[in-house]
Amino acid sequence: MIETASAAWDAYAARAPDRRPTNGVGARTWFNWTQYPDHGPGVELLGLRPGDRALDLGCGSGGNAAHLASLGIGAVGVDVSTRQLAKARERWPDHPGVELHLVDALTHLRASPGTYAAVYSVFGAVYFSDPEILLPAIRAALVPGGRLVFSQRPAVEGCYGAQASLIQRGPDEDPAVVRRWDYESDSWLSILRDAGFAACGAEILPAPLGGRRTEGTLLVRGQRPG
Ligand SMILES: C[S@@+](CC[C@H](N)C(=O)[O-])C[C@H]1O[C@@H](n2cnc3c(N)ncnc32)[C@H](O)[C@@H]1O
Repeated sequence: MIETASAAWDAYAARAPDRRPTNGVGARTWFNWTQYPDHGPGVELLGLRPGDRALDLGCGSGGNAAHLASLGIGAVGVDVSTRQLAKARERWPDHPGVELHLVDALTHLRASPGTYAAVYSVFGAVYFSDPEILLPAIRAALVPGGRLVFSQRPAVEGCYGAQASLIQRGPDEDPAVVRRWDYESDSWLSILRDAGFAACGAEILPAPLGGRRTEGTLLVRGQRPG
């Protein structure tokens, strides 16, 4: 059964490990696009300057938004999970520059025309929303020239479009089920262009060398024409 997104994501929050107190170089805040620690590009993908506003779609416990705020960027995080936002508020109490809202991504975007210099999502709401509906709303919420960047797992060969994604709850309970959207890079490029984005790119970042895991990270980007 597909239940409400907030109940499913509260179940996820109950089992998700917390972000480490510091990263590999001892920093308290950092940006991570991938499923691996200390791996991949950072905040530079967003092209932001101090004073800009950025929106995190499905911010979870808020680590990436807190990092933007530490750089002087006005970071807004939205999430449908009460538990995720409670973790974020506990981890970043009174962190200046971070604004958190318990709201669905699409609802927030539709209320925010021409507002953000960047919209990003790390295995977040973009992964779990129909892109044909969400991407035009993101474009409209960006300022001209503003960037969208998102990351998620690469599609499994032959499994494209809406997929069932299971969230395990424990041995005595059924998993929660949400929908996620998977495509190959070429398909993302045409979906982005159809939604009015320019400067589009999509690539798979390889997993860290030397580890046992081989799954890469799909990184997708586009820009609202200026
Ligand atoms: C896998 S977690 C990733 C959290 C965070 N971005 C990170 O990197 O740790 C996915 C998050 O997206 C949120 N989410 C999923 N669908 C959403 C939607 N439509 N609107 C807002 N948040 C959503 C979930 O509640 C959850 O916190």
